[in-house]
Amino acid sequence: MNNFNFYSPTFFVFGKGRENETGKYVKRFNGSKVLIHFGGGSVIKSGLLDRVKASLTSQGISFEELGGVVPNPRSGLVYKGIEICKRKKIDFVLAVGGGSVIDSAKAIAMGALYDGDFWDFYTGKKIEKALPVATILTISAAGSEGSMGSVITHEDGMFKRAANNDVLRPVFSILNPELTSTLPDYQIACGVTDMMAHVMERYFTNTKNVEISDRLSEGILLAVINEAPKALANKDYDSLANLMWAGMVAHNDTCGVGRESDWATHNMEHELSALYDVAHGAGLAVMFPAWMKYVMHHDVMRFAQFAVRVWGCEMDFQNPEKTALQGIERYEKFMTSIGMPIRFSELGAKAEDIPTLVKTLGLGANTLGSFVKLTEEDVKKIYELAV
Ligand code: NZQ
Ligand code: ZN
Repeated sequence: MNNFNFYSPTFFVFGKGRENETGKYVKRFNGSKVLIHFGGGSVIKSGLLDRVKASLTSQGISFEELGGVVPNPRSGLVYKGIEICKRKKIDFVLAVGGGSVIDSAKAIAMGALYDGDFWDFYTGKKIEKALPVATILTISAAGSEGSMGSVITHEDGMFKRAANNDVLRPVFSILNPELTSTLPDYQIACGVTDMMAHVMERYFTNTKNVEISDRLSEGILLAVINEAPKALANKDYDSLANLMWAGMVAHNDTCGVGRESDWATHNMEHELSALYDVAHGAGLAVMFPAWMKYVMHHDVMRFAQFAVRVWGCEMDFQNPEKTALQGIERYEKFMTSIGMPIRFSELGAKAEDIPTLVKTLGLGANTLGSFVKLTEEDVKKIYELAV
Protein backbone atom coordinates (compact mmCIF):
# COMPACT_ATOMS: atom_id res chain seq x y z
CA MET A 1 0.00 0.00 0.00
CA ASN A 2 1.30 3.48 -0.89
CA ASN A 3 1.53 6.38 1.54
CA PHE A 4 -1.45 8.70 1.34
CA ASN A 5 -3.25 11.73 2.78
CA PHE A 6 -7.00 11.55 3.03
CA TYR A 7 -8.90 14.67 4.01
CA SER A 8 -12.64 14.48 3.48
CA PRO A 9 -14.25 17.08 5.74
CA THR A 10 -17.75 17.19 4.22
CA PHE A 11 -20.59 17.02 6.77
CA PHE A 12 -23.31 14.76 5.35
CA VAL A 13 -26.96 15.29 6.18
CA PHE A 14 -28.80 12.22 4.88
CA GLY A 15 -32.47 11.30 4.70
CA LYS A 16 -36.05 12.29 4.07
CA GLY A 17 -36.94 15.97 4.24
CA ARG A 18 -33.45 17.03 5.30
CA GLU A 19 -33.37 19.90 2.75
CA ASN A 20 -35.65 21.76 5.14
CA GLU A 21 -32.64 22.10 7.46
CA THR A 22 -30.55 23.95 4.86
CA GLY A 23 -30.68 27.31 6.66
CA LYS A 24 -29.48 25.77 9.91
CA TYR A 25 -26.43 24.25 8.25
CA VAL A 26 -25.56 27.31 6.20
CA LYS A 27 -25.50 29.22 9.47
CA ARG A 28 -23.41 26.55 11.17
CA PHE A 29 -20.84 26.85 8.38
CA ASN A 30 -20.81 30.66 8.61
CA GLY A 31 -22.72 31.58 5.45
CA SER A 32 -24.54 34.90 5.60
CA LYS A 33 -24.95 35.93 1.95
CA VAL A 34 -25.62 32.94 -0.27
CA LEU A 35 -25.58 32.35 -4.01
CA ILE A 36 -28.11 29.59 -4.77
CA HIS A 37 -27.02 27.87 -7.97
CA PHE A 38 -29.26 25.46 -9.89
CA GLY A 39 -29.90 23.87 -13.28
CA GLY A 40 -32.48 23.87 -16.01
CA GLY A 41 -35.66 23.73 -13.97
CA SER A 42 -36.14 20.34 -12.28
CA VAL A 43 -35.66 21.93 -8.84
CA ILE A 44 -38.28 24.58 -9.61
CA LYS A 45 -40.76 21.99 -10.88
CA SER A 46 -40.31 19.73 -7.85
CA GLY A 47 -40.72 22.60 -5.38
CA LEU A 48 -37.26 21.93 -3.92
CA LEU A 49 -35.96 25.42 -4.66
CA ASP A 50 -38.88 26.99 -2.80
CA ARG A 51 -38.29 24.78 0.22
CA VAL A 52 -34.59 25.67 0.27
CA LYS A 53 -35.35 29.40 0.02
CA ALA A 54 -37.90 29.13 2.83
CA SER A 55 -35.34 27.39 5.02
CA LEU A 56 -32.73 30.12 4.39
CA THR A 57 -35.27 32.87 5.04
CA SER A 58 -36.35 31.25 8.30
CA GLN A 59 -32.76 31.64 9.52
CA GLY A 60 -32.51 35.26 8.33
CA ILE A 61 -30.00 34.37 5.59
CA SER A 62 -30.13 36.49 2.44
CA PHE A 63 -29.48 35.04 -1.00
CA GLU A 64 -29.09 35.65 -4.71
CA GLU A 65 -30.15 33.10 -7.33
CA LEU A 66 -28.46 31.88 -10.48
CA GLY A 67 -30.12 29.08 -12.47
CA GLY A 68 -29.51 27.70 -15.93
CA VAL A 69 -26.62 25.23 -15.45
CA VAL A 70 -26.69 22.72 -18.30
CA PRO A 71 -25.38 19.13 -18.19
CA ASN A 72 -21.66 19.30 -19.05
CA PRO A 73 -21.61 22.77 -17.44
CA ARG A 74 -20.19 25.70 -19.37
CA SER A 75 -17.76 28.49 -18.62
CA GLY A 76 -20.20 31.29 -19.59
CA LEU A 77 -22.43 30.82 -16.56
CA VAL A 78 -19.40 30.44 -14.30
CA TYR A 79 -18.17 33.91 -15.34
CA LYS A 80 -21.64 35.27 -14.62
CA GLY A 81 -21.70 33.64 -11.17
CA ILE A 82 -18.26 35.01 -10.30
CA GLU A 83 -19.37 38.50 -11.29
CA ILE A 84 -22.47 38.21 -9.03
CA CYS A 85 -20.38 36.92 -6.11
CA LYS A 86 -17.94 39.82 -6.36
CA ARG A 87 -20.59 42.49 -6.87
CA LYS A 88 -22.98 41.24 -4.16
CA LYS A 89 -20.26 40.22 -1.69
CA ILE A 90 -21.45 36.61 -1.56
CA ASP A 91 -19.72 34.49 1.11
CA PHE A 92 -21.25 31.03 0.48
CA VAL A 93 -22.25 29.08 -2.66
CA LEU A 94 -25.14 26.61 -2.40
CA ALA A 95 -25.54 24.13 -5.27
CA VAL A 96 -29.03 22.65 -5.63
CA GLY A 97 -28.88 19.93 -8.27
CA GLY A 98 -26.59 17.31 -9.76
CA GLY A 99 -22.91 17.07 -10.59
CA SER A 100 -23.15 19.76 -13.26
CA VAL A 101 -24.62 22.31 -10.85
CA ILE A 102 -22.17 21.37 -8.11
CA ASP A 103 -19.17 21.61 -10.45
CA SER A 104 -20.30 25.00 -11.71
CA ALA A 105 -20.75 26.14 -8.09
CA LYS A 106 -17.21 24.99 -7.25
CA ALA A 107 -15.81 26.91 -10.24
CA ILE A 108 -17.68 30.05 -9.15
CA ALA A 109 -16.43 29.61 -5.59
CA MET A 110 -12.82 29.53 -6.80
CA GLY A 111 -13.23 32.41 -9.23
CA ALA A 112 -14.90 34.61 -6.63
CA LEU A 113 -11.65 34.78 -4.65
CA TYR A 114 -9.35 35.16 -7.64
CA ASP A 115 -8.44 38.21 -9.70
CA GLY A 116 -7.45 36.27 -12.83
CA ASP A 117 -9.46 33.99 -15.14
CA PHE A 118 -11.01 31.04 -13.25
CA TRP A 119 -10.07 28.82 -16.23
CA ASP A 120 -6.45 29.01 -15.07
CA PHE A 121 -7.38 26.43 -12.41
CA TYR A 122 -8.58 24.02 -15.13
CA THR A 123 -5.32 24.33 -17.03
CA GLY A 124 -2.90 23.60 -14.23
CA LYS A 125 -2.76 26.58 -11.86
CA LYS A 126 -2.62 25.49 -8.23
CA ILE A 127 -5.88 26.07 -6.36
CA GLU A 128 -5.39 27.76 -3.01
CA LYS A 129 -8.78 28.97 -1.86
CA ALA A 130 -12.47 29.06 -2.66
CA LEU A 131 -15.65 30.27 -1.03
CA PRO A 132 -17.35 27.51 0.99
CA VAL A 133 -19.62 25.36 -1.18
CA ALA A 134 -22.52 23.25 0.06
CA THR A 135 -24.79 20.96 -1.95
CA ILE A 136 -28.32 19.66 -2.00
CA LEU A 137 -28.01 16.65 -4.27
CA THR A 138 -30.76 15.66 -6.72
CA ILE A 139 -29.09 12.85 -8.70
CA SER A 140 -26.85 9.99 -7.57
CA ALA A 141 -24.01 10.01 -10.06
CA ALA A 142 -20.94 12.22 -10.24
CA GLY A 143 -20.04 12.14 -6.55
CA SER A 144 -19.18 15.84 -6.62
CA GLU A 145 -21.11 16.19 -3.34
CA GLY A 146 -18.10 14.64 -1.60
CA SER A 147 -15.30 14.96 -4.13
CA MET A 148 -12.45 17.40 -4.57
CA GLY A 149 -13.17 17.76 -8.30
CA SER A 150 -14.99 20.07 -10.66
CA VAL A 151 -15.36 19.53 -14.40
CA ILE A 152 -16.20 22.46 -16.70
CA THR A 153 -16.43 22.86 -20.47
CA HIS A 154 -14.93 26.07 -21.85
CA GLU A 155 -17.14 27.35 -24.63
CA ASP A 156 -14.16 28.77 -26.46
CA GLY A 157 -13.03 25.51 -28.11
CA MET A 158 -15.35 23.22 -26.10
CA PHE A 159 -12.52 21.95 -23.93
CA LYS A 160 -13.83 19.84 -21.03
CA ARG A 161 -11.30 19.92 -18.22
CA ALA A 162 -11.10 19.10 -14.50
CA ALA A 163 -9.76 20.99 -11.49
CA ASN A 164 -8.99 19.13 -8.27
CA ASN A 165 -8.18 20.27 -4.77
CA ASP A 166 -9.37 19.50 -1.24
CA VAL A 167 -10.62 23.08 -0.84
CA LEU A 168 -13.34 22.13 -3.36
CA ARG A 169 -14.85 19.51 -1.10
CA PRO A 170 -18.27 20.77 0.01
CA VAL A 171 -18.53 21.90 3.64
CA PHE A 172 -21.86 20.09 3.87
CA SER A 173 -24.01 18.04 1.53
CA ILE A 174 -27.68 17.26 2.01
CA LEU A 175 -28.61 13.88 0.55
CA ASN A 176 -32.32 13.16 0.47
CA PRO A 177 -32.87 10.06 -1.70
CA GLU A 178 -36.54 11.02 -2.22
CA LEU A 179 -35.36 13.93 -4.37
CA THR A 180 -34.04 11.46 -6.95
CA SER A 181 -37.43 9.83 -7.52
CA THR A 182 -38.33 12.39 -10.21
CA LEU A 183 -35.35 11.38 -12.36
CA PRO A 184 -35.97 9.83 -15.77
CA ASP A 185 -34.76 6.19 -15.94
CA TYR A 186 -32.04 7.20 -18.41
CA GLN A 187 -30.52 9.63 -15.91
CA ILE A 188 -30.64 7.05 -13.10
CA ALA A 189 -28.81 4.60 -15.36
CA CYS A 190 -26.23 7.22 -16.39
CA GLY A 191 -25.62 7.88 -12.70
CA VAL A 192 -25.19 4.19 -11.93
CA THR A 193 -22.67 3.89 -14.77
CA ASP A 194 -20.71 6.89 -13.53
CA MET A 195 -20.45 5.67 -9.93
CA MET A 196 -19.35 2.21 -11.11
CA ALA A 197 -16.76 3.89 -13.33
CA HIS A 198 -15.42 5.89 -10.37
CA VAL A 199 -14.78 2.64 -8.53
CA MET A 200 -13.27 0.90 -11.55
CA GLU A 201 -10.88 3.78 -12.30
CA ARG A 202 -9.44 3.06 -8.84
CA TYR A 203 -9.70 -0.73 -9.00
CA PHE A 204 -7.55 -1.26 -12.08
CA THR A 205 -4.21 -0.36 -10.58
CA ASN A 206 -0.62 -1.54 -10.56
CA THR A 207 -0.30 -1.07 -6.79
CA LYS A 208 -0.29 -4.44 -5.08
CA ASN A 209 -1.70 -5.52 -1.72
CA VAL A 210 -4.35 -2.90 -1.07
CA GLU A 211 -6.89 -5.44 0.06
CA ILE A 212 -9.04 -2.96 1.96
CA SER A 213 -9.51 -0.76 -1.12
CA ASP A 214 -10.14 -3.82 -3.31
CA ARG A 215 -12.81 -5.22 -1.03
CA LEU A 216 -14.49 -1.86 -0.51
CA SER A 217 -14.57 -1.36 -4.28
CA GLU A 218 -16.00 -4.80 -4.94
CA GLY A 219 -18.61 -4.27 -2.22
CA ILE A 220 -19.75 -0.97 -3.71
CA LEU A 221 -19.96 -2.48 -7.20
CA LEU A 222 -21.93 -5.50 -5.94
CA ALA A 223 -24.35 -3.26 -4.06
CA VAL A 224 -24.87 -0.99 -7.07
CA ILE A 225 -25.40 -3.95 -9.42
CA ASN A 226 -28.02 -5.24 -6.98
CA GLU A 227 -29.78 -1.94 -6.27
CA ALA A 228 -29.85 -0.35 -9.73
CA PRO A 229 -32.48 -2.65 -11.31
CA LYS A 230 -34.71 -2.22 -8.23
CA ALA A 231 -34.34 1.56 -8.32
CA LEU A 232 -35.23 1.57 -12.01
CA ALA A 233 -38.21 -0.74 -11.59
CA ASN A 234 -39.73 0.62 -8.38
CA LYS A 235 -38.05 3.89 -7.48
CA ASP A 236 -38.41 2.71 -3.87
CA TYR A 237 -36.79 4.72 -1.10
CA ASP A 238 -34.28 2.10 0.02
CA SER A 239 -32.80 1.35 -3.36
CA LEU A 240 -32.59 5.07 -4.16
CA ALA A 241 -30.98 5.62 -0.75
CA ASN A 242 -28.40 2.89 -1.33
CA LEU A 243 -27.53 4.35 -4.72
CA MET A 244 -27.22 7.82 -3.25
CA TRP A 245 -24.69 6.80 -0.65
CA ALA A 246 -22.91 4.54 -3.16
CA GLY A 247 -22.43 7.52 -5.49
CA MET A 248 -20.74 9.42 -2.68
CA VAL A 249 -18.41 6.66 -1.43
CA ALA A 250 -17.55 5.71 -5.00
CA HIS A 251 -15.87 9.05 -5.55
CA ASN A 252 -14.75 10.71 -2.33
CA ASP A 253 -11.68 8.45 -2.60
CA THR A 254 -12.54 6.08 0.23
CA CYS A 255 -11.78 3.18 -2.11
CA GLY A 256 -8.91 4.82 -3.94
CA VAL A 257 -6.45 5.67 -1.20
CA GLY A 258 -3.18 3.80 -0.93
CA ARG A 259 -2.87 3.07 -4.61
CA GLU A 260 -2.51 4.58 -8.06
CA SER A 261 -5.75 5.19 -9.89
CA ASP A 262 -6.13 5.37 -13.65
CA TRP A 263 -8.65 7.91 -15.09
CA ALA A 264 -7.78 7.32 -18.76
CA THR A 265 -11.36 6.28 -19.51
CA HIS A 266 -12.77 9.40 -17.85
CA ASN A 267 -10.46 11.60 -19.88
CA MET A 268 -11.37 9.85 -23.13
CA GLU A 269 -15.06 10.16 -22.21
CA HIS A 270 -14.78 13.87 -21.47
CA GLU A 271 -13.86 14.37 -25.14
CA LEU A 272 -17.06 12.55 -26.17
CA SER A 273 -19.32 14.60 -23.89
CA ALA A 274 -17.60 17.82 -25.00
CA LEU A 275 -17.99 17.05 -28.71
CA TYR A 276 -21.48 15.50 -28.75
CA ASP A 277 -22.93 16.91 -25.51
CA VAL A 278 -23.92 13.40 -24.39
CA ALA A 279 -24.42 12.42 -20.74
CA HIS A 280 -21.11 11.61 -19.03
CA GLY A 281 -22.43 8.23 -17.78
CA ALA A 282 -23.53 7.16 -21.26
CA GLY A 283 -20.12 8.05 -22.66
CA LEU A 284 -18.45 5.97 -19.95
CA ALA A 285 -20.64 2.94 -20.74
CA VAL A 286 -19.22 3.07 -24.27
CA MET A 287 -15.59 3.76 -23.37
CA PHE A 288 -15.05 1.41 -20.42
CA PRO A 289 -15.43 -1.94 -22.25
CA ALA A 290 -13.19 -0.67 -25.05
CA TRP A 291 -10.50 0.38 -22.58
CA MET A 292 -10.80 -2.92 -20.68
CA LYS A 293 -10.41 -5.03 -23.81
CA TYR A 294 -7.38 -2.99 -24.86
CA VAL A 295 -5.50 -3.12 -21.54
CA MET A 296 -6.58 -6.44 -19.97
CA HIS A 297 -3.44 -8.32 -21.08
CA HIS A 298 -1.37 -5.99 -18.94
CA ASP A 299 -2.73 -7.81 -15.86
CA VAL A 300 -5.13 -10.57 -16.83
CA MET A 301 -5.35 -11.86 -13.26
CA ARG A 302 -6.69 -8.53 -12.06
CA PHE A 303 -9.42 -8.64 -14.69
CA ALA A 304 -10.14 -12.27 -13.82
CA GLN A 305 -10.48 -11.28 -10.14
CA PHE A 306 -12.93 -8.54 -11.20
CA ALA A 307 -14.89 -11.13 -13.22
CA VAL A 308 -15.05 -13.64 -10.37
CA ARG A 309 -15.64 -11.36 -7.39
CA VAL A 310 -17.91 -8.75 -8.99
CA TRP A 311 -19.66 -10.60 -11.80
CA GLY A 312 -19.78 -14.09 -10.31
CA CYS A 313 -17.85 -15.72 -13.17
CA GLU A 314 -16.18 -19.07 -12.59
CA MET A 315 -12.39 -18.91 -12.58
CA ASP A 316 -10.79 -20.83 -15.42
CA PHE A 317 -7.30 -21.48 -14.07
CA GLN A 318 -6.16 -22.96 -17.38
CA ASN A 319 -7.33 -19.89 -19.25
CA PRO A 320 -7.67 -16.79 -17.02
CA GLU A 321 -8.00 -14.64 -20.13
CA LYS A 322 -11.32 -16.35 -20.84
CA THR A 323 -12.53 -15.47 -17.34
CA ALA A 324 -11.35 -11.88 -17.74
CA LEU A 325 -13.25 -11.53 -21.02
CA GLN A 326 -16.38 -13.02 -19.45
CA GLY A 327 -16.26 -10.29 -16.80
CA ILE A 328 -16.10 -7.59 -19.47
CA GLU A 329 -18.99 -9.23 -21.33
CA ARG A 330 -21.09 -9.29 -18.14
CA TYR A 331 -20.33 -5.63 -17.55
CA GLU A 332 -21.54 -4.88 -21.10
CA LYS A 333 -24.68 -6.98 -20.60
CA PHE A 334 -25.44 -5.17 -17.37
CA MET A 335 -25.04 -1.81 -19.09
CA THR A 336 -27.43 -2.88 -21.84
CA SER A 337 -29.92 -4.17 -19.27
CA ILE A 338 -30.15 -0.75 -17.61
CA GLY A 339 -30.56 1.01 -20.95
CA MET A 340 -27.04 2.28 -21.53
CA PRO A 341 -25.30 2.39 -24.92
CA ILE A 342 -22.11 0.35 -25.37
CA ARG A 343 -21.14 1.43 -28.90
CA PHE A 344 -20.29 4.73 -30.60
CA SER A 345 -23.33 4.53 -32.92
CA GLU A 346 -25.78 4.17 -30.01
CA LEU A 347 -24.31 7.34 -28.55
CA GLY A 348 -24.46 9.29 -31.79
CA ALA A 349 -20.65 9.35 -32.00
CA LYS A 350 -18.92 8.88 -35.36
CA ALA A 351 -15.78 6.98 -36.32
CA GLU A 352 -14.70 9.83 -38.60
CA ASP A 353 -14.48 12.13 -35.56
CA ILE A 354 -11.83 9.97 -33.86
CA PRO A 355 -8.90 12.12 -35.10
CA THR A 356 -10.67 15.19 -33.63
CA LEU A 357 -11.27 13.43 -30.30
CA VAL A 358 -7.62 12.41 -30.09
CA LYS A 359 -6.42 15.88 -31.06
CA THR A 360 -8.62 17.73 -28.55
CA LEU A 361 -7.45 15.42 -25.80
CA GLY A 362 -4.11 17.08 -26.47
CA LEU A 363 -1.83 14.31 -25.30
CA GLY A 364 1.05 15.05 -27.68
CA ALA A 365 4.12 13.18 -26.49
CA ASN A 366 2.64 12.61 -23.01
CA THR A 367 0.76 9.51 -21.89
CA LEU A 368 -2.67 8.98 -20.35
CA GLY A 369 -3.61 6.81 -17.38
CA SER A 370 -1.45 4.77 -15.04
CA PHE A 371 -2.57 1.12 -15.27
CA VAL A 372 -1.25 1.20 -18.83
CA LYS A 373 0.35 4.45 -19.93
CA LEU A 374 -1.50 5.14 -23.16
CA THR A 375 0.04 7.01 -26.07
CA GLU A 376 -2.00 8.96 -28.65
CA GLU A 377 -1.88 5.88 -30.88
CA ASP A 378 -3.29 3.70 -28.06
CA VAL A 379 -6.07 6.22 -27.43
CA LYS A 380 -6.97 6.18 -31.12
CA LYS A 381 -7.17 2.37 -31.07
CA ILE A 382 -9.38 2.40 -27.96
CA TYR A 383 -11.80 4.84 -29.59
CA GLU A 384 -11.80 2.52 -32.63
CA LEU A 385 -12.66 -0.46 -30.42
CA ALA A 386 -15.68 1.48 -29.13
CA VAL A 387 -17.11 2.02 -32.65
O1 NZQ B 1 -30.94 20.87 -15.08
P1 NZQ B 1 -32.05 20.14 -14.45
O2 NZQ B 1 -33.39 20.62 -14.86
O3 NZQ B 1 -31.92 20.04 -12.95
O4 NZQ B 1 -32.01 18.63 -15.04
C1 NZQ B 1 -30.94 17.71 -14.75
C2 NZQ B 1 -30.07 17.39 -15.95
O5 NZQ B 1 -30.78 17.54 -17.15
C3 NZQ B 1 -31.57 16.37 -14.46
N1 NZQ B 1 -31.91 16.19 -13.05
C4 NZQ B 1 -31.07 16.26 -11.98
N2 NZQ B 1 -31.74 15.94 -10.87
C5 NZQ B 1 -33.03 15.69 -11.23
C6 NZQ B 1 -33.14 15.85 -12.63
N3 NZQ B 1 -34.31 15.66 -13.28
C7 NZQ B 1 -35.38 15.30 -12.56
N4 NZQ B 1 -35.34 15.10 -11.22
C8 NZQ B 1 -34.18 15.27 -10.53
N5 NZQ B 1 -34.13 15.02 -9.20
O6 NZQ B 1 -30.57 15.41 -14.78
C9 NZQ B 1 -29.76 15.91 -15.83
C10 NZQ B 1 -28.31 15.58 -15.55
O7 NZQ B 1 -27.83 16.33 -14.46
P2 NZQ B 1 -26.25 16.48 -14.22
O8 NZQ B 1 -26.05 17.37 -13.05
O9 NZQ B 1 -25.59 16.86 -15.51
O10 NZQ B 1 -25.83 14.97 -13.88
P3 NZQ B 1 -24.59 14.38 -13.17
O11 NZQ B 1 -24.73 14.43 -11.70
O12 NZQ B 1 -24.38 13.08 -13.81
O13 NZQ B 1 -23.36 15.36 -13.53
C11 NZQ B 1 -22.63 15.20 -14.71
C12 NZQ B 1 -21.45 16.12 -14.73
O14 NZQ B 1 -20.54 15.83 -13.64
C13 NZQ B 1 -19.21 15.70 -14.17
C14 NZQ B 1 -19.47 15.12 -15.53
O15 NZQ B 1 -18.34 15.23 -16.38
C15 NZQ B 1 -20.64 15.96 -16.01
O16 NZQ B 1 -20.20 17.21 -16.50
N6 NZQ B 1 -18.39 14.91 -13.24
C16 NZQ B 1 -17.98 15.52 -12.11
C17 NZQ B 1 -17.18 14.88 -11.19
C18 NZQ B 1 -16.72 15.56 -9.96
N7 NZQ B 1 -16.94 16.85 -9.83
O17 NZQ B 1 -16.11 14.96 -9.06
C19 NZQ B 1 -16.69 13.52 -11.41
C20 NZQ B 1 -17.37 12.80 -12.52
O18 NZQ B 1 -16.50 11.85 -13.03
C21 NZQ B 1 -17.87 13.63 -13.63
O19 NZQ B 1 -16.83 13.86 -14.59
ZN1 ZN C 1 -17.41 10.26 -13.71
